[in-house]
Amino acid sequence: MRRLMTILLGLMLAGCGSDDTSEPSGYQWDIPDGFPTPRVPEDNPMTDEKVELGRLLFYDTRLSDNQTQSCGSCHRQDIAFTDALAQSIGSTDEVHPRSAMALTNIAYASVLTWGNPLQRNLEEQMLTPMFGEEPVELGLKSQEDLISRLESVEDYQQRFEAVFGPDEGMGVVNLDRTTKAIAAFQRSLVSTRSDYDRFIYRGQPDAMNDSAKRGMELFFSERFECFHCHGSFNFSDSTQHDGTVFEEIAFHNNGLYNIGGSGAYPVGNQGVYDVSGVLEDSGKFKAPSLRNIAVTAPYMHDGSIATLEDVLDHYSRGGRLIEDGEFAGDGKFNPFKSELINGFTMTEEEKADLLAFLNSLTDEEFLTDPKFSDPYN
Ligand code: HEC
Ligand code: HEC
Repeated sequence: MRRLMTILLGLMLAGCGSDDTSEPSGYQWDIPDGFPTPRVPEDNPMTDEKVELGRLLFYDTRLSDNQTQSCGSCHRQDIAFTDALAQSIGSTDEVHPRSAMALTNIAYASVLTWGNPLQRNLEEQMLTPMFGEEPVELGLKSQEDLISRLESVEDYQQRFEAVFGPDEGMGVVNLDRTTKAIAAFQRSLVSTRSDYDRFIYRGQPDAMNDSAKRGMELFFSERFECFHCHGSFNFSDSTQHDGTVFEEIAFHNNGLYNIGGSGAYPVGNQGVYDVSGVLEDSGKFKAPSLRNIAVTAPYMHDGSIATLEDVLDHYSRGGRLIEDGEFAGDGKFNPFKSELINGFTMTEEEKADLLAFLNSLTDEEFLTDPKFSDPYN
């Protein structure tokens, strides 16, 4: 924790001087009419060159102390930047308490990670996987180690200078610039070409089949309630975009656990409670975007639900029953559960329709776009 705090403080100081001399190079978003544009911090404008530098860094194993992992090790493009594990495994084989999150349309997220109201921007969030010790992910020991490794690469020297300008006293290659470039790459990960998008935004009435269209109606119905938490164009209520006046940030308990009937979640994975210490925050997590959800199994903060079908059964029951073992308890009766999770009856056809709808959120072009791919492979 101390290592991370020192680095955060240093960065806040470094951020005071204007480090960014590049002119915005007219960055083009691939966004159809009616689909909002991401909000971009004023001190980190998007440019093609910066996004490309960010891509090189995102996939560079120099970002881990033992040079075995990059961001891309846990955030793989073909599965919407997740890792297919219930719980991620760091560069020293330490198991993360939680599941890697998809980065689809991450530019629109008003809050980052599963249950931390304090994680608000991409430039800062990445310091946790880089330097965090609980758990160790990339396991970097100091920013000096990282920067001297990056500086030794001639190509990086040139690219950092081209993107951010000459040395202004902090070095051409420095941590502030590194995090800005990676954040710009992450903001570029915009997905707007799923069948759903083709139907809604791109004027293709046949892009969704009838079953998916019926499923969409169920998703947005008061009976199924999904849209209350997975609402907006981005299917998450913690969403912001360019021009948002009031930033919504929300966390919900959806009844996964109720250990011993006390409302408890497993220790170390109690959502916002772990940050706030307020009992009512127990089990509250962010409702993640459902874009590309069909390719990001297993599901939930701890990967404890294997398939989308099982997710639907979970909501239909109104909470999960764990009959025995250390986590035994009926999530349906968790005292902190959201009132929107009440359970519902669902016919087999309705279930198939909802699944068809969730599948229509997959954007194959996003999953295979060379712009987002690993440049070292
Ligand atoms: C060891 C695997 C691992 C590595 C390496 C890793 N991440 Fe993650 N990432 C995760 C996990 C697990 C979470 C969820 C964290 C939590 O909730 O505490 C996450 C969450 C995120 C989020 C929040 C997404 C959201 O929807 O809120 C972002 C952004 C992110 N990671 C970016 C990065 C970047 C950038 C790097 C490289 C500097 C990186 N990650 C390296 C596993 C990893
Ligand atoms: C009260 C708000 C709320 C409602 C209503 C709700 N969800 Fe969720 N959803 C969440 C939260 C919060 C999570 C993450 C919970 C966790 O990890 O502990 C989640 C997780 C999910 C996930 C897994 C996401 C991932 O990346 O692992 C899927 C899929 C999902 N919900 C689909 C649905 C569907 C379909 C409905 C309607 C039947 C629905 N949700 C209704 C809040 C809600």
